[in-house]
Amino acid sequence: MEAFNTALTFLLVIISVAASYYLRRKRCETKLPPGSFGWPFVGETFAAFAAGRNGTPNSFIVERMKRYGNRIFKTSLVGDSVAIFCGATGNKFLFSNENKLVTAWWPRSLQRLFQACILTSVGDEAKRLRRLLMTFLKPEALQGYVGDIDSVTRLHIQKEWDGKEVVKIYPFVKTYTFELACRLFASVEDPEHMSKLSHLFNILLVGAVAIPVEFPGTRYYRATRAADAIREEIRLIIRRRSRVALVDKLAAGTPTDQDLMSHLLVATDENGRFMTEDEIANNILVLLFAGHDTTTCVLTMLMKYLAEFPDVYDKVLKALEQRGIAMSKGPGELLNWEDIQKMQYSWNVTTEVMRLAPPLVGAFREATTDFIYEGFTIPKKWKLYWSASSTHMNPDYFLDPEKFNPTRFEGVGPRPYTFIPFGGGPRMCPGKEFARLEILVFLHNAVNRFKWELVFSDEKVKIDPMPVPVKGLPIRLQPHKF
Ligand code: HEM
Ligand SMILES: *[C@@H]1O[C@H](CO)[C@@H](O)[C@H](O)[C@H]1NC(C)=O
Repeated sequence: MEAFNTALTFLLVIISVAASYYLRRKRCETKLPPGSFGWPFVGETFAAFAAGRNGTPNSFIVERMKRYGNRIFKTSLVGDSVAIFCGATGNKFLFSNENKLVTAWWPRSLQRLFQACILTSVGDEAKRLRRLLMTFLKPEALQGYVGDIDSVTRLHIQKEWDGKEVVKIYPFVKTYTFELACRLFASVEDPEHMSKLSHLFNILLVGAVAIPVEFPGTRYYRATRAADAIREEIRLIIRRRSRVALVDKLAAGTPTDQDLMSHLLVATDENGRFMTEDEIANNILVLLFAGHDTTTCVLTMLMKYLAEFPDVYDKVLKALEQRGIAMSKGPGELLNWEDIQKMQYSWNVTTEVMRLAPPLVGAFREATTDFIYEGFTIPKKWKLYWSASSTHMNPDYFLDPEKFNPTRFEGVGPRPYTFIPFGGGPRMCPGKEFARLEILVFLHNAVNRFKWELVFSDEKVKIDPMPVPVKGLPIRLQPHKF
């Protein structure tokens, strides 16, 4: 039944899209960027995805960059005409023309799943939502949560690692980041509630990258239902709180900032307007989504590289910082904001991990008008793409780019627009500081208690759609004796 539905709707989509595709393709062929649209409808989709699945997302882009002159080329993916903007110049152009020539754009499947929220909105509305969310996500606000994050992390590691010889890192980290987000965003701590949400969330994640066909039985259909169910859960939590009481508390000078939800309940925009229940629910849902697999992927790859480079592990622990920070603390004393600022080398190691394995290999924009770039016409409505993975591997920007070398970030660091794991410009990741806290606190706890080695020394990494070791990265733990 599911197969039949999928096949049927896939066919319908092909027919409708093929028509508009040919019309667009006929337009001003002469001045368009170089490149090939490939096959009708599917375009070069298969070539692009195959490259990712083989763990080489760059081969698709790098091959074409060479062939077409390193600046820009056109292709077609899942029915859309796409221009790939190459290198630091291309990144700079897209990041600095948001709301002028381009706006953020995500595949339609994501737009439907997440409805109106920071991810799917553009222009002034995107700015308004960003300002409201930043009341919780800005560094000054997050400072107060370092201790909470530390205590959750300690407990997690104790519960799941103590007394174990082998731990599979990917599923472990995935649960860890999800539970931390549930707690900090909506104070969900009850294990049963959390596992219900996590179950729904996994259905959502599977469907988010499926073909967006809304027939009962398809993965995408199940994902839309799961998203609705999570939103309903969040609304229930909102209703159990009293906005009036929170606002009164705030007026009386009592802090109300226990979690993201209470921040959003009292935050007002420049017209003094509160966020609606739906706005809060949609935005919490999308933050859970955007912050989950990304941070999981960085932590997993960080554990992998630290096992492969014992000298870097030693520097993280001893020569430079994490052991010293732990020694400066009394028994049971939690980490604070100043401790995080000392973790410079650890962050540079994380930075090098994100250079080699950016969780988001790139993202889209949409042209809001016809414009000229590097002498080529970019028609309105075209999708534009910036690529973190190919920029990060460009030998003009990073010497011996395939080498893992955290010292490359010492001194002045990389040139502007060459290191872009969080994007850039007005749409830059608003969760960057939150991710940094999670990652550094986790790293602190992991290295101070354990050393580890890989169970499979040659475990492959596939990119589908984010870089993940194919066997979930089992590691062998060695507890420290000190
Ligand atoms: C290491 C982890 C993370 C990485 C590498 C990452 C990367 C990115 C990138 C590259 C973008 C920009 C996409 C674009 O320019 O179109 C983005 C956007 C976004 N990220 Fe993150 N992210 C991470 C963690 C998080 C976390 C923890 C949260 C939530 C707390 C989050 C929430 C978001 C949201 C809501 C957007 C959309 C912003 C907008 O459309 O204006 N991210 N992220
Ligand atoms: C870390 O990177 C920053 C920015 O690139 C650099 O200024 C600093 O020297 C580096 N610190 C260490 C300890 O490597």
